[in-house]
This record gives sequence, structure tokens and C-alpha cells, in this order.
Amino acid sequence: MTQEKYPYTEPILSVNDLRVSFKTDEGLVHAVRGVSFTLNKGETLCIVGESGSGKSVTSKTIMGILSASAVIESGSVMYGGEDLTKIDESEFHRIRGHKIGMIFQDPLSSLNPIMKVGKQITEAMLVNKNKMARMLDDLISKEEASYKNAKVRKTQTIIRAQGEVLESDEFYDKEIRELDNQIGEKKNDFEMKKIKNASLIQEINATAGKDDKSKAAAQQKADSQNKVNKAEEEALKAEIAQLIADNEKKIVELKKEKKEKHQTLEAKYREAKKAAKSLYKKEAPVLKKALKDKKKAAKAEIKQFKKDQAVKYAQQQSAFKDEKIKLDETCGKELKDLQASYSSAPSKALAKQAITKKQNEYDGRLKDINARQEQAHDDYVGIFKVTKKAAKATALRVMKEVGIPQPEVRYNQYPFEFSGGMRQRIVIAIALTANPEVLICDEPTTALDVTIQAQILELINRLKKERNMSIIFITHDLAVVANMADRVAVMYAGKIVEVGTANEIFYDPRHPYTWALLSSIPDIDSHEKLEAIPGTPPYLLNPPKGDAFAARNKYALAVDFKEEPPFFRISATHYASTWLLDKRAPKVNKPKIVSQRIKASLERAGVTNESEL
Ligand SMILES: Nc1ncnc2c1ncn2[C@@H]1O[C@H](COP(=O)(O)OP(=O)(O)OP(=O)(O)O)[C@@H](O)[C@H]1O
Ligand SMILES: [Mg+2]
Repeated sequence: MTQEKYPYTEPILSVNDLRVSFKTDEGLVHAVRGVSFTLNKGETLCIVGESGSGKSVTSKTIMGILSASAVIESGSVMYGGEDLTKIDESEFHRIRGHKIGMIFQDPLSSLNPIMKVGKQITEAMLVNKNKMARMLDDLISKEEASYKNAKVRKTQTIIRAQGEVLESDEFYDKEIRELDNQIGEKKNDFEMKKIKNASLIQEINATAGKDDKSKAAAQQKADSQNKVNKAEEEALKAEIAQLIADNEKKIVELKKEKKEKHQTLEAKYREAKKAAKSLYKKEAPVLKKALKDKKKAAKAEIKQFKKDQAVKYAQQQSAFKDEKIKLDETCGKELKDLQASYSSAPSKALAKQAITKKQNEYDGRLKDINARQEQAHDDYVGIFKVTKKAAKATALRVMKEVGIPQPEVRYNQYPFEFSGGMRQRIVIAIALTANPEVLICDEPTTALDVTIQAQILELINRLKKERNMSIIFITHDLAVVANMADRVAVMYAGKIVEVGTANEIFYDPRHPYTWALLSSIPDIDSHEKLEAIPGTPPYLLNPPKGDAFAARNKYALAVDFKEEPPFFRISATHYASTWLLDKRAPKVNKPKIVSQRIKASLERAGVTNESEL
């Protein structure tokens, strides 16, 4: 296949080796296990995979809205030179909902049922009223992040080193406890044995009859049992003594080892603490000064900006004044002349008509100037802060943009007065008011019926083009992917297993999981769902070794169960993580059903020769 030139190449957001787990009663659930991808400016990247593959956890990490039990174990989310996993809450607000917007699956749960939709749309805009403060925050964000990060780094280094000491102590304490427990258990066994033996004797004694002979027999039996018992008990006693001696020796050794380890680690910890502190001491003033300088420069920049705006505004206002003077001098004067000549006009009716016409012209032009003047005033005020009036105007504009008829009426209605599709449009409108650069859509149409779904998808596609947004679109539905994606990342069990342009994934899939997904979608012509993927995804409490899909993969090789496959490069935009792409692997063709479907859809598209792609 000839290589198409992929048009989107300017990275705007990148996720790097992200690992996210959840603390549960059973242990850590490894939901996202080393995910990396880049989102380019203006593209739609679809993330597709079965339920539970980690799609939402990935998007929630980007948005900074993970639940409290989540742990970001490693990795970064880089956006605008900042790592979104590291920045603090207040800084995140600047980005979340502003630079990066998100739309969820269920539009009802993202709307407040008892608030009019208009207010819900304007609310977010009015929260951050002061635009100049936000501008300052934006201007100094990098320097502020560096300064704060230095402190975080220092604390983290110290805590980590301290953690090593505690961990080591805990390890030895546990070992020592274990040895103590062994002794306790053995002693328990001994006591149990004694009770059991005593009851054995009792049982024998109970068999003794009244006569001497039977008494003697029982006695004899009891005596011999007693001997066995004693021997057993002696042996156990010796065993306990040996165990105590052994374990005590081991405990002494362990305690010694613990102490030594503790001292070494404690020294290391003190060293690390000292180093971290001294690094911070060195770094902090530099970073602090950089922040201070940047703040000063930013303030000056804002001051200049305000001044420029004020000058521009004054110029505009004086231009309007001039325009009005000119109107008076031309149209106004003409009107006066007409009025003055009315008494001498040959036809009063014609003269009256001419006056009315001129009067209307004059009024119309004046009204137009006044309207523009008022708009200029609103615009000027709007530069510095969001007014209620401006917020409402934006809300109405965006409502119209997302295809809500009669926005003025709808503005004052409650969510329950809207259909599901219209509600999702409102949610999209809310996300758009901030004019986000990146929009994350997590299954935004799953709750809608098919025709409405198609409309919403079309809307998102249109908005993306008009606003030049970059979109991460999450879905489990390959049919939706086909309608939306410029690029596709296929996710399985917390990892991306294949990534490529939409054409590469649909016409040249390489990972057996992608094959399985493609074979499971209903056929376009027959609508028949062909092959369900056998089995279920692995439980992420103990993710399998090797390729997580191996157990469900009929093409799995022995190595798939042992070793994780690396990413193999197929083209500059196409990568897949499967051992089938290794040079040593046997040649495996994609399933017939997949190649048949590819052929059929290529034919439908009028491509008869694959190399034309
Ligand atoms: N709060 C949580 N506590 C424990 N485990 C969680 C939590 N949230 C998600 N998980 C687990 O993380 C894994 C990934 O979940 P995620 O919601 O990202 O899946 P998904 O790909 O979005 O699936 P779906 O298509 O069903 O939305 C799942 O195994 C899930 O059980
Ligand atoms: Mg999800």
C-alpha cells in the first residue's frame, strides 16, 4: 500500500507511559498500564476498545477528575509545556473546562435538573469573571509551575527516601513476626497433642470392665499408649526446643541485619534529604526570581494591553462621534432643507413623502451608528470581564451554533424540557463556551438512538472543522470510529495495542485484537454480526504476563504468554504491539472475514487496486 500523507502533524497534547491503578480491597487494579499517544492539532483521535479497557480512566486522567482511590503510578500528560498530572488544583482549573473541554456519555448526569439551561451555559463563563487575572495566570503559568514543581520534587524525594527506611524496617519486622509465629504455632500443636493424648488414655480407661482381667488389660493398653504418647510429646518438645533455638538465632541475625540496613538507609535518607534540600535551596531562589520577573513583565504587558485597548476604544468612540457629525452635515442637512422648502413646494404630498423618506433614512443611519457604538462599548468592557449580558449573548450564539432552534426560548427552559439529543447539544454548548483547544468526548452518543447519534456525530465533526479543535473521541463502536476518526488507537486491557490512521486501521489492521474487533462489527450489507470475540478481557488485578490478548487469540504464539511484545513499526503513523510482526514469527494472514470485508468496502469505495489507497 502506498503511504498516504497524514495531514495532522503538530502535536498539541501527549500522554507518555501513563500508568494508573485503583486501590481496592483486593489490591491494586491496574487499569491503565503504560499508555502513550500524541494528539495533533486539528485531528480526531479515536480510542476504541472493549468495556473495561481503560479508555475512560485515560481521559479522566487528562481531565484531572480521577476518583480518590486512583493512583497515577507513573507517566505524564504534557500540554502547553506543563505536565497535567503534576500541576495543582488551582492551576488545573485554568486548563480544565477552558483549554480542554469534556463531554460525557450521559447528558442528564452532566446537567443540573433544577437549573435553567441558559444559566447552566453562562455559569461557567461567569465563574471566571476577571479576564485580566486569568490572562496574568496564563502568562506566568510556566514559571509558576516550575517554582511549585521544585518544591514538590524536593518533598517527593525526601518522602521516597524515608519510605525506603520504613519499608525495610517493616520487611524485617514481618520476617521476625513470622518466626515468632512459627514457635507459637508449634507450641499450640504441642498443647493440642497433649490434650489428644490424654483423651486417648481416657478412652482406653473407659473400655475397662468390672473384672480384674479386663482392668489389667486396659491398664496394659493404657501403659503402652502412655509410652507412645510420652515419646511423641518428648519428640515434639525437642522439636520446639530446636525451633526456638533456630529461630532465636535467625531472629538475632535478622535484628542485626535490620539494624544495619536501617542505618545504611537512614544515612542514605539523610543524604537524600540534605541533597534535596540543598538542591531546592539552590533552585528555589532562581525559580522564584524567574517567577517574580515574569510576573512583573506580564503585569507590564497587561498594563500596555489595557492602555492600547483604551486608546483603541477612544478612537472608536471619536470615530462614531465624527460619523454622527457627518450624518448631521449630510443627511441631517438635507432633511432640514426639505423641511424648510415644504411651504413653497408645488406638491405638498410629494414634499411630505420626500421628508418622511429622508427622516427614515436619517433615523435608520443614526440607529445603525448607535448600535455599532453600543456593540463597541460592550466589546470593550468584555475584554476585561465577562458581563452577564455578554455571557448571555455568547450562550445564545453557541446554542445556535450547536443547532438548537429558538435559542431565546430554550434559554429559559429546564433540561427535562429537552430531548436526549438536544440535551447532549446543550452539554456540547457548555463545553464550547470556553472555546477549548482540545475536546474529549467519552462515548457521547451511546445513550442516544441511532438517528440522533448520527446528528450529534455530524455536529461534532462540523464544530471540529469550524473551530479547528483537536478531539479525543472515545467509543467501543467501530462504526462510530469510521465516521469520526482521522487516527485510531486500539486499546486492550489497559494498553494501546495498535495505532494508525483510520485507513491503516480499517484497511491494513495488524493486531489480532484489531482483527477480532473488525470481525465482530455487523456487516454493512448483511447487518449480520459475524464473530463475537471469544472469552472475556483479563481481570486487571493480576494482569497476565506477555500479550494480554494471548488467551483469547487463536493466533497466539508461545512467546505471547511469556513476554510482552514491543511496538513494531509498520509505517510512520502505524504501529502495532504483536509478536506476529517479529521477523522470526510464522507468517499469519488476517482472518478471511476481515480481508473479505476490506475488499468489499474498498470496492464500494471504488478502489479496485489496494495500492491506489
Ligand atoms: N474507581 C475505580 N475503582 C476500581 N477500579 C476501577 C475504578 N474505575 C475504573 N476501574 C477499573 O479500571 C478499568 C478500566 O476502566 P474504564 O472505565 O477506563 O474502562 P472503559 O474502557 O472506559 O470501559 P467502558 O467502555 O465500559 O466505559 C476497569 O477494569 C475498571 O473496573
Ligand atoms: Mg468508559
